[in-house]
Amino acid sequence: MSLLTKLALVVAIVLVAIKINSVLQPPPLPKIDENAWWGPGERPSKEDVTIKPFKISVSDELIPILTTPQKDYDFAFEVIAPSLPGFAFSDGAAKTGLGAVQMGAIFKNLMHRLGHEKFYMQGGDWGAVIVSNMATLFPDNILGLHSNMCFAKGTIPTIKILLGSICPSLVVDEEYKHKMYPLLEKLQFNIEENGYFHLQATKPDTVGIAVAQSPAGLAAYILEKFSTLTNATYKSYEDGGLLEKFTYEELIDNLMLYWLINSFTTSVRIYAESFTKVQLTERVVEIPIRKDVPCQEEKGLDDAGKTTILYRFKLGEVVRSNPTILFNVETIKYKNLNFAIWDMGSGPKLWPTFRHYFPREDCAQDLIFVVNSNDREQIETASYELKTLWEHSLSTMRMDASLLVYVNKQDLPDAMNEAEIIEKLGLRSGMAV
Ligand SMILES: *[C@@H]1O[C@H](CO)[C@@H](O)[C@H](O)[C@H]1NC(C)=O
Repeated sequence: MSLLTKLALVVAIVLVAIKINSVLQPPPLPKIDENAWWGPGERPSKEDVTIKPFKISVSDELIPILTTPQKDYDFAFEVIAPSLPGFAFSDGAAKTGLGAVQMGAIFKNLMHRLGHEKFYMQGGDWGAVIVSNMATLFPDNILGLHSNMCFAKGTIPTIKILLGSICPSLVVDEEYKHKMYPLLEKLQFNIEENGYFHLQATKPDTVGIAVAQSPAGLAAYILEKFSTLTNATYKSYEDGGLLEKFTYEELIDNLMLYWLINSFTTSVRIYAESFTKVQLTERVVEIPIRKDVPCQEEKGLDDAGKTTILYRFKLGEVVRSNPTILFNVETIKYKNLNFAIWDMGSGPKLWPTFRHYFPREDCAQDLIFVVNSNDREQIETASYELKTLWEHSLSTMRMDASLLVYVNKQDLPDAMNEAEIIEKLGLRSGMAV
């Protein structure tokens, strides 16, 4: 190989590495106009900010549970359930550009107007996208986030999903496997059922004009979603299984919110406005939510907080991390200490391989073991892994090596206390510090 070829090869490798690195980095926080005016014309000089109460009666089982004081709880919630812009009781925008990110700013402003500087959020479907965006953009205002449609978008999640199609246990617990795999089956379902999504994201007003002209058309379009998306097997039922989970009254109430207010077209525009070039470039849903915003999280050994601690040392900041896939080994120098941090994800199949990393010659051979004090389900597994690791390593370690058990997440309400942890981990003198 000539020198020039070698040089070209090195340059190419560096460029590929830079490219991969930039793909893996989450995008920066976008600058958005939090006070944009979406009504017609310019923002009026005098805005009507009065709150006009009105009453709708709905049969709702959830809200009263939250608003009624409950035994054993010294709090109850005030529930604010706004219609998204363009849906039901909220007008659509008179201008283009109001997507799920901008709606997050509108709702943050709404909460401030109602006197809530900080608040909890729950979201589903588009609401889930919006509350996730709000937690990313306005973390200081969010006390906590609950989502019933969590999503992980980006290069790493895509790689994980593909990897999982070969070996599902690497990325998903057995009980949830059927929700992700077989991948081809899920893809087929999407192709068959998500045509509406594509249509609404590209030509919302075409489908809008057609559907909004005919009550039967509107009913067919929307009720078909109630059928298939409640349970895919209902599609084969003669009546679409519509009454399996809903009453006619509930279904028709829902349709009427689109029909009487003529909100179908304005409502489907959220699809198009959330997939514009600008929004696809900003990729707000791919930006990690700041770690101090409590979110509903999965439990499990992946949740002990190792990755967070790792990045805290490595980058000097707290970042929200995804559960680790495979493993992550980092050597970190902090003050005059050298740490080799093994962050093992991926379940029991891979854990044993880590015993061979320990001890390492380039580090002092003491061990810090991180446990999640809030994870009662898996404390036994943690105990087993610790014991095995320790026993395996004992023969090769200095006699005065010490073990530090870092009991993480003690601020959570259900956390085990020190005595419980010592007992559950089976720590003995001479082993525990
Ligand atoms: C969907 O409906 C079928 C048939 O009633 C049922 O066996 C299945 O458990 C349902 N799936 C879900 C997720 O509820």
